[in-house]
Amino acid sequence: MMSGKCITVLFLVLGSGLGSGSCGKVLVWPADNSHWLNVKSILEELADRGHEVTVLLSSSFLGTDPTRSPFNFEVISVPFTKEDMASLMEDFLHMWVYELPNFSYWETTSRMCNLISRLVSINKATCDSVVWNEELMKMLREAAFDILLADPLVLGGELVAEKLGVPFVYTFRFSIGNTVERLCGGLPAPPSYVPASMGGQTDRMSFMERMKNMLFYALQDVLFHQFFWREWSQYYSDVLGRPTTLCETMGKAEMWLIRTYWDFEFPRPFLPNFEFVGGLHCKPAKPLPEEMEEFVQSSGEHGIVVFSLGSMVYNLTEEKSNMVALALSQIPQKVLWRYKGKKPETLGPNTRIYDWIPQNDLLGHPKTKAFITHGGTNGIYEAIYHGIPMVGIPMFADQPDNIAHMKAKGMAVELDFNTMQTQDLINALNMVINNSSYKENAVRLSEIHHDQPIKPLDRAVFWIEFVMRHKGAKHLRPAAHELTWYQYHCLDVLAFLLLCAAAAVFIAVRCCLFCCKKCGRIVKKKKTE
Ligand SMILES: *[C@@H]1O[C@H](CO)[C@@H](O)[C@H](O)[C@H]1NC(C)=O
Ligand SMILES: *[C@@H]1O[C@H](CO)[C@@H](O)[C@H](O)[C@H]1NC(C)=O
Ligand SMILES: *[C@@H]1O[C@H](CO)[C@@H](O)[C@H](O)[C@H]1NC(C)=O
Ligand SMILES: *[C@@H]1O[C@H](CO)[C@@H](O)[C@H](O)[C@H]1NC(C)=O
Repeated sequence: MMSGKCITVLFLVLGSGLGSGSCGKVLVWPADNSHWLNVKSILEELADRGHEVTVLLSSSFLGTDPTRSPFNFEVISVPFTKEDMASLMEDFLHMWVYELPNFSYWETTSRMCNLISRLVSINKATCDSVVWNEELMKMLREAAFDILLADPLVLGGELVAEKLGVPFVYTFRFSIGNTVERLCGGLPAPPSYVPASMGGQTDRMSFMERMKNMLFYALQDVLFHQFFWREWSQYYSDVLGRPTTLCETMGKAEMWLIRTYWDFEFPRPFLPNFEFVGGLHCKPAKPLPEEMEEFVQSSGEHGIVVFSLGSMVYNLTEEKSNMVALALSQIPQKVLWRYKGKKPETLGPNTRIYDWIPQNDLLGHPKTKAFITHGGTNGIYEAIYHGIPMVGIPMFADQPDNIAHMKAKGMAVELDFNTMQTQDLINALNMVINNSSYKENAVRLSEIHHDQPIKPLDRAVFWIEFVMRHKGAKHLRPAAHELTWYQYHCLDVLAFLLLCAAAAVFIAVRCCLFCCKKCGRIVKKKKTE
């Protein structure tokens, strides 16, 4: 079956005269948690098509069980454990969800900087364990990979690719303020109508909002320079043995596979080497487990609500969980809640708690009326795929931005996790369930999502195979990468033109004065005569 597909691929490749394409060898530099779940869909498809997939896996990686997988795993031993990572995540969540709302702006910033520097040092240690490990590098070089698939949330993939001389492709959602895409990928983003991610604006901005948007871009660029650019540029230069910068290395990505699509994004300019493949992990719903199906059917005409705050937020404080459970107990729908903490006392008979739920299958169930979500990209896309309106309770990372998009598209109501009360949650649920405009918008976006000439997963895999076949995609690379910032904005040309104009004006004025003087003299002469 596998080799059959592979031969088909081979035929297609030979048939279209594209040279010696065969099943390739793919090296993967993954990021953890939900990022891994997304990339795994691509890797499974690649493995299905007969490619050999090898994942460079840090020994502290939380997201996968290497024994049950069609991939090879090359485990990198790093000087910290899974427990360290889990506790770092816990600290991060606790700080973000419970402490930040009480902090002043400066305290928040200093905590964030502290956390970022912890993450950077972990990231660097992971890189160290690969690039300075001669044996591993030799093995990887001899394996002669055709492509490296990297997630820039964890830096280093591009460095390994560069060291191995292998073309690489990025897969990710965004960087804050789109700094990496803009500065390193060359993606144009006019601040007048392309809202900076995490800036909280939509594509229709008033004067003040445009100013805010522009300043947000500028601020993020400064922070990026401060926290990443200098330090990592030095590291990359040391490893590669020649002067380079982080951005220059990142900008060598052959393709950027972005985890969104026009059902989600505001229309904006993009480049031929950016491909929007949002929702590639979505699949039609499968039947539910029997016990669950019975519960869902018992909801009658009111239907069900699916509730999950994602794989990272396991439990809430007792106060919060009681508040949430009380709200849920007061709606006519049945609720399936993914929750691992202590059972709340106010839990109503219409609500059931599960350690884990088959989220995609539930969202695809005809009885599902609404989705209460933290707003992770994977969950958002499952809701778009199945056309389910949502109540968003965003917490961190890309979640506020995702919910802001869904709100602007009329498919979601947003709640603030820190200030919401029982009645807010009830109102929000009633709104998305009773007011048909939310469902209509959800169905409209779902139709847009499904009406594509090529499915997102197939497009992602096509471009990965394309890069393998052609050893890159240089024909899509904009020349912007070779320009300096003042050349890019034509500031040198403007300066030259201004200079010319100034010179012309100067000469004209000089001429005028000269003529006037001459005339004056002639007139005087005539008069004296
Ligand atoms: C934050 O403030 C709220 C009240 O404003 C308080 O209930 C809560 O305990 C505080 N959280 C922390 C971590 O100090
Ligand atoms: C979540 O559960 C863990 C243990 O299961 C506990 O240590 C932690 O305090 C809990 N967090 C909250 C916010 O209740
Ligand atoms: C929404 O509909 C439910 C019944 O399905 C009803 O109990 C609830 O009051 C309605 N809410 C609003 C705001 O109309
Ligand atoms: C339904 O929601 C839309 C969008 O928020 C709003 O404009 C409209 O007034 C709502 N309709 C009702 C009956 O509440």
